[in-house]
Amino acid sequence: MTLKRGKFITFEGVEGGGKSTQIQRLADWFREQGREVLVTKQPGGTAIGSQIRQTLLHVDHAHMEPWCEALLYLADRAQHVRQVIEPHLSRGVWVLCDRYQDSTVVYQGVARQVDSGLIDAIYQQAALGLKPDLTIILDLDVTTGVARARSRNVELQLSQAEGRFEEEDLSFHRAVREGFIQLAAREPHRVRLVDATEDAEHVFQLVRDACEAVVHV
Ligand code: TYD
Repeated sequence: MTLKRGKFITFEGVEGGGKSTQIQRLADWFREQGREVLVTKQPGGTAIGSQIRQTLLHVDHAHMEPWCEALLYLADRAQHVRQVIEPHLSRGVWVLCDRYQDSTVVYQGVARQVDSGLIDAIYQQAALGLKPDLTIILDLDVTTGVARARSRNVELQLSQAEGRFEEEDLSFHRAVREGFIQLAAREPHRVRLVDATEDAEHVFQLVRDACEAVVHV
């Protein structure tokens, strides 16, 4: 009997949209159905990726060049896809990933204006061009989102170590949000925009609806 390949579901969106809460709930829901699930994230889903993550997110690196930033995210993805994601999918595990290539397309390609054709070309080679079956974008007003993310970083004492993107001004985050909205319009079959303004329970209903519609759970 041939093993059925797992589904690959990614979560994206502006800061503070509540991705980790929704991913955990979705993982629990899938596990209740008897599925094997891996929850992971980018950057930082491997030991090598954790080192790359520290370099990418530290507030001291505010002067990082956009190309350096883009290549580090792609390097993290190359390692993560080849070492972790693809082997799990081929074993039939469902993989839920907190951020993926669409973040590079939007943060580096749209907001930092790094050449999107080259970003895609590197991704195709380095990360096998592995496409999610479903991408859920948690969408909300950036003022609310960034405020939530900043207070979470303070609470978890991550402000210095991981706060570089939260320090960007609101116009950067607005460009990111607009980039994600346009992406959802360009790829409606794969990408679902979910309004993340309301409470976590309500948002989870929408996330589940998107899963039922796209990956036929
Ligand atoms: P993280 O702490 O995971 O933030 P969040 O909870 O908002 O997902 O930090 C990841 C940061 O890296 C986030 O600000 C978005 C940014 N990012 C990119 O700019 N490009 C990328 O390709 C990825 C994966 C993340």
